Amino acid sequence: MGHGFDPALPLSRARTVPNTWYTDPAVLAAEREHVFARGWQLVGRADQLKEPGSFVTADIVGEPILVVRSDDGVLRGFFNVCRHRAAPIRTEPCGHATKLRCRYHGWTYDLTGKLRGTPEFDGVEEFDKDDNGLPPVAVAEWGPFVFVHLTEPAQPLAAYLGPLPGWVEGRAAFAGLEWKARQSYDLACNWKVYVDNYLDGGYHVNTVHPALAGVLDYREYRTVCDGNTVLQSSPITPGDGAAGRTRTGDLAAYWWVWPNLMMNLYQGVMDTNLVLPLGPDRCRVVFDFYFAAGTPDDFVAESVRVADQVQAEDVGVCEEVQRGLNSRSYTTGRFSVKRENGGYHFHQALGRVLAGHVNV
Ligand code: FES
Ligand SMILES: [Fe+2]
Repeated sequence: MGHGFDPALPLSRARTVPNTWYTDPAVLAAEREHVFARGWQLVGRADQLKEPGSFVTADIVGEPILVVRSDDGVLRGFFNVCRHRAAPIRTEPCGHATKLRCRYHGWTYDLTGKLRGTPEFDGVEEFDKDDNGLPPVAVAEWGPFVFVHLTEPAQPLAAYLGPLPGWVEGRAAFAGLEWKARQSYDLACNWKVYVDNYLDGGYHVNTVHPALAGVLDYREYRTVCDGNTVLQSSPITPGDGAAGRTRTGDLAAYWWVWPNLMMNLYQGVMDTNLVLPLGPDRCRVVFDFYFAAGTPDDFVAESVRVADQVQAEDVGVCEEVQRGLNSRSYTTGRFSVKRENGGYHFHQALGRVLAGHVNV
């Protein structure tokens, strides 16, 4: 059964992955293993993890993660799972601690993950504290971001990001940017619907985002696929209204990093979008907003409102698409050769890593 998704086809003959990949819990289970556990995942910001004892927690499709700056200054990542009964060590999104104390029965670990305190555990045989530290996870920093990798990384973060670090360096794109705000949106769609929407090469900009369309030179919109990344970029045309006031400079750059991270850059303005699956037909998209140091508060507020409006427009179509993907009438679709090379690049990667693990 199925249509046999073939990632080797040229774009002109390609089809999308089948609709069941957007609805089937077995596909999400395979993605948890073969997509999310085998890529670098954004879990926090460097500014949250500056001081010894500072920590962030994260959830990567059901894997609880804890990242801590140890007393020796080293950033360490752990599974946020106590060795005693698997309770989380910390439950807050971020904070500061001198030691890591499990809130269930009070076992304590130091900031390097070593088990130190085990109340009322005398007399337990064949139990060595040294074998019961917090299980480590690979962690890496890049620019304002902290990533983890749930399994042995196939490549270091910088290599994983391909052309992105060089591009950022060449344009000094992160220079002076400071984190200002976070917004989180829960959507009634599969996480891949949101990624597909992001990667359609501007195909929906004129139809879905009228205000944004006014500041982008759509004829010059370009999509470049390279390894784990897709760069969509467009020259900016000076526009009026809130979008025109807050989206300035020479270029709008929209970077996607396999599988679920987006980075949107304008002059002095950046937001990241992290797409977190919550179920086969639900996801959460977390926006973090960064601005050049000294950006006035009213500019920040207006810029966040512009992003919120664009997001509301995207949420609307994404949730409608999810309903359509549930229809008996739809299995796969075709790609625009002119616009949708980015979306097919994403589907090709999915097809390769999920081959043999899900039905096609
Ligand atoms: S689960 Fe952590 S101390 Fe019991
Ligand atoms: Fe959009």
